[in-house]
Amino acid sequence: MCGIVGYIGTQQAAPLLLEGLGRLEHRGYDSAGMAVLGTGGALRMAKRSGRVRDLAEEVPARFGGKVGIGHTRWATHGPATDANAHPHADAAGRVAVVHNGILDNASALRAMLTDDGIELASDTDTEVLAHLVARSGADTLEGRVADALAAVEGTYGLAVVHADFPDRIVVARNGSPLIIGVGDKEMHVASDLAALVRYTTTVAYLDDGEMATVTAQGFTTYRHDTAQLHRTHRDAAPVDVDPSAYEIGEHESFMLAEMLEQPRAAERVLRGRLNERFGTSHLGGLNMDAREIRAIRRVKILGCGSAYYVGQMGASLIEELARIPADAEAASEFRYRDPVIEPDTLYVAVSQSGETIDTLLAVQEIRRKGGRVVGLVNVVGSAIARECDGGIYLHAGPEVAVASTKALTTMFLGFSLLALQLGRVRDLSISDGRRLIEGLLKLPEQIQAVLDTEAELTVVAKRLAEADSLFFIGRVRGFPVAREGAQKFKEITYRHAEAYQTSELKHGPLALISEAVPTVALVPDDELVDRNVAALHEIAARKGPLVVVTHEGVDLGDLAHSSTTQRIDVPRNEKELDPILLTIPLQLLAFHAANHLGLDVDKPRNLAKSVTVE
Ligand code: G6P
Repeated sequence: MCGIVGYIGTQQAAPLLLEGLGRLEHRGYDSAGMAVLGTGGALRMAKRSGRVRDLAEEVPARFGGKVGIGHTRWATHGPATDANAHPHADAAGRVAVVHNGILDNASALRAMLTDDGIELASDTDTEVLAHLVARSGADTLEGRVADALAAVEGTYGLAVVHADFPDRIVVARNGSPLIIGVGDKEMHVASDLAALVRYTTTVAYLDDGEMATVTAQGFTTYRHDTAQLHRTHRDAAPVDVDPSAYEIGEHESFMLAEMLEQPRAAERVLRGRLNERFGTSHLGGLNMDAREIRAIRRVKILGCGSAYYVGQMGASLIEELARIPADAEAASEFRYRDPVIEPDTLYVAVSQSGETIDTLLAVQEIRRKGGRVVGLVNVVGSAIARECDGGIYLHAGPEVAVASTKALTTMFLGFSLLALQLGRVRDLSISDGRRLIEGLLKLPEQIQAVLDTEAELTVVAKRLAEADSLFFIGRVRGFPVAREGAQKFKEITYRHAEAYQTSELKHGPLALISEAVPTVALVPDDELVDRNVAALHEIAARKGPLVVVTHEGVDLGDLAHSSTTQRIDVPRNEKELDPILLTIPLQLLAFHAANHLGLDVDKPRNLAKSVTVE
């Protein structure tokens, strides 16, 4: 979603800001802008709806200056227009603000400012901050920003420049990430590491309620949650990240690069965490001993989008292996039904970015009510990771494409490790534990084997791309796979794709089956295979084209010879681990269908990689 960059130092700011904004494009946005403080103290701004490249067209010549801030906006308050793009300025054009997050009391503040005779130039919540900073009587920019923040309620990551204080950028954070990058006589700020790693990997993360002054020489942090500013002590430290992981390399898109990286990502999440001798897993970060694990009576998993669907896969793994009742729920709904939080329930928050606001708020709600939450999170040190009592980092590496692939795979493996541990502390036998471990160790190679069938999957994908509407069906372990498959397909192809339990077809959706509506069916060789194959016949009898994702040896009867049925075999493993191997071909189908349609797979319309507003 929205992204922030900032620069102060010895180089021209504008080209660096544009480059940083380009690196935030994947987060999803609809307009971009920047403000630069010229050497003569003038504040210049450029902003417009559209892409960063549209902004670049109007920037270079007149934007001299070595201090500046930039922003990519994803519209919340008001449409994607030039006026609503950030930065926002005060009436005199001396203060510029970029902001991520949402100010809850913006309407009241806008009304107050209008009553005071201020003409607002945009529909946004952010603009009030620029006016509030300008109206503050404090002597310092830090004091003025703190005054403005005292008046607002809501979430923010923000950066402010002021023509009267040309040697600094003031930044603040409350619920929306803000990172300071340390260079040599220059400093960067950003809301996402992706915008910084090209320049520096020595960074400091602000905490909620913290502000910082950033000058070319360094930074100073403060807390502003009281009327006074109190110095805090925060050191910048190197982050362990390979800058090339943010580069697309030889691939045509991040999504493809990330799908192809899955075998390596799977190895990373498992590394050092399997104990073959005792048939269990080592999960030091969980911060729970065997006695606490035994006391768990229920597991509740929370996530959004793909993280929610993989949470459903995880719930069934936990029930099967540990025999603890488990279910997954959309984190975006959880908090609004005033959930009952039980002391003997283990809550699990799943998130690639660690900053999805719905998941973060769900975690906070649980903790407020005394529940214990562990995280399955990819981004180290992210808000959700910090908010949890413990967790399992996923080690997927940076994921840039909106559609989650390698992170999802590591989430599934994270759940496998958790289920193994919960199971082994309870009734899962050592031999079953070892059987699972053997299966897990085979997965990287088997995922690679599915990826190697890309050419065949491309042919199937092109046929699916012709349909306006599709079904994805599966049962029990296969149903979350169908949901995730439909999600992937719809988000990047813009085709209507709906997931159903195979068993529910005849209770409604069968009415829609026709030659024009293909079904992608998940038919693993498990205890339900015969029933699943019977359902395929019901679809074929109504002329519905089929793509059957199954295992070698599964007998599809007459369908094997039908020209409207295509079969995709995935490798066999332990049946509990089927979901992940069934998921991989669905990623490739969605990817190649979108590619065939000429769509931007990495940046699907209207969507954002990290959804940081409710
Ligand atoms: C957005 C993305 C999805 C992602 C979801 C959860 O909706 O478009 O691809 O699955 O957020 O993101 P998280 O970072 O919490 O896993």
